[in-house]
Amino acid sequence: MSDLILDYTNVMSAAVGEDNGLTDEEISALAPRAKQIHEELASLRASGDKPFYDLPYKKEEAKKLKRAAGALAKNFQNFVVLGIGGSALGTTAMMTALAHPRHNNLSARKRTGARLYVADNIDPDEFSALLETLSLKDTVFNVVSKSGATAETMSQFMIVYDLLKARMGKEWKKHVIATTDPKNGILRRIADKYRLKTFEVPLGVGGRFTALTPVCMLPAAAAGLDITAMLEGAAAMDARCKSASLKENPAYLFAAIHYLMDTSKGKKMTVMMPYSYRLKDVADWFRQLWAESLGKKQDFDGNPIYAGQTPIKALGATDQHSQVQLYVEGPHDKLVCFLETEKIDSQLTIPPVFGDEPELEYLGGATMNHLYAVEKDGTEYALTVNKRPNMTIRLPQVDAHSLGQLLYMLEVATAFAGGLYRVDAFDQPGVEFGKKYAYAMMGRKGYEKLKKEIESGEKKSRRTV
Ligand code: PA5
Repeated sequence: MSDLILDYTNVMSAAVGEDNGLTDEEISALAPRAKQIHEELASLRASGDKPFYDLPYKKEEAKKLKRAAGALAKNFQNFVVLGIGGSALGTTAMMTALAHPRHNNLSARKRTGARLYVADNIDPDEFSALLETLSLKDTVFNVVSKSGATAETMSQFMIVYDLLKARMGKEWKKHVIATTDPKNGILRRIADKYRLKTFEVPLGVGGRFTALTPVCMLPAAAAGLDITAMLEGAAAMDARCKSASLKENPAYLFAAIHYLMDTSKGKKMTVMMPYSYRLKDVADWFRQLWAESLGKKQDFDGNPIYAGQTPIKALGATDQHSQVQLYVEGPHDKLVCFLETEKIDSQLTIPPVFGDEPELEYLGGATMNHLYAVEKDGTEYALTVNKRPNMTIRLPQVDAHSLGQLLYMLEVATAFAGGLYRVDAFDQPGVEFGKKYAYAMMGRKGYEKLKKEIESGEKKSRRTV
């Protein structure tokens, strides 16, 4: 199996000049801190405090999930995830990367597994449309919530429960699987009370680090994706991440470049731009990982820091005709990270038609694959000559093994970046704040005081025209 490659040529000052690029000395100066952070994280891992690191080795659990997925496939055509944030984004990223791009439209014979839907929003139009168009008897709902309380997910579940009960009576339970905390939370209580089939979100693994847990692995297995190869890819990346050296450890180098770009070169934004439709939702998944983990107002000691770099997702070649103008000529405030793959499954040749149009001759007979690669090279070139730092993560191909490498690398990079910024990469008080607002304003018991505070504040500050 080949390894993914991190090509950082174009973040160096030799490519984009000293104001925007890094020197070897700047990177090397981080080495002592890197070593210290590496040792701290390794000791937390050894003490069991950061269990996400060891998820690649849960092969027995993967077997169990595959068996469960196989059993589900016998009874259900549709698998619907009810979840949001870390309980949804990884699943979507895996599906887009690994399933047939029109998986849900294929006939059962051609599909690798169940049709998969990820309902990660509560827009009433969208959610009702999904429920209206599914054949409920062919559908299993996987309600996924680590906390077991998130209003979006629980409201979806309550609607689905009501609907299933009305249509199926006692049989409703066969159509629900809960993935949640092993012991605590409302969802766990409901699951225990009704003896629902359950899977566990391992203790100590935060929402956005759950890609390799049943949160994403059960839906992935249900759709027929190769979750074992994903774990193997992650384990291969873990082996590469054992080194404290920035020049050897791709996750640490990725984090260090981002950190230095943010803190010493004014690159307050980072754009992840796949030139692979299959990887487009990895950029979405990464956006949450980087934003929620590093966007913090306090450092380890409680001092104000207001850290974080804004992650942006883009897609090549689509966004060449939308965003790239800004990236190439706008403010010098971005780092661009391309994702690309050496091999694309399909090969499309552009036929040499319209012979009476000599200006189209260059396309006729060329492959779309070649055009796609040239477009990426063109964007990279335009950025570099305009002194815009950019790097490329190159996958040998988009398969389960390389996706496992990529997701795990980005998780390790995020944990390490937390150390560089000196912030807790594993909490999300800003997200919790939003959840509490929803609880208070929807009248949840215990949140009456917060509701009053919010309402009085809103009256004072509301201005409209
Ligand atoms: O990463 C996180 O912690 C969050 O984005 C959560 O995943 C998200 O808020 C959903 O939470 P839960 O799984 O508890 O419903």
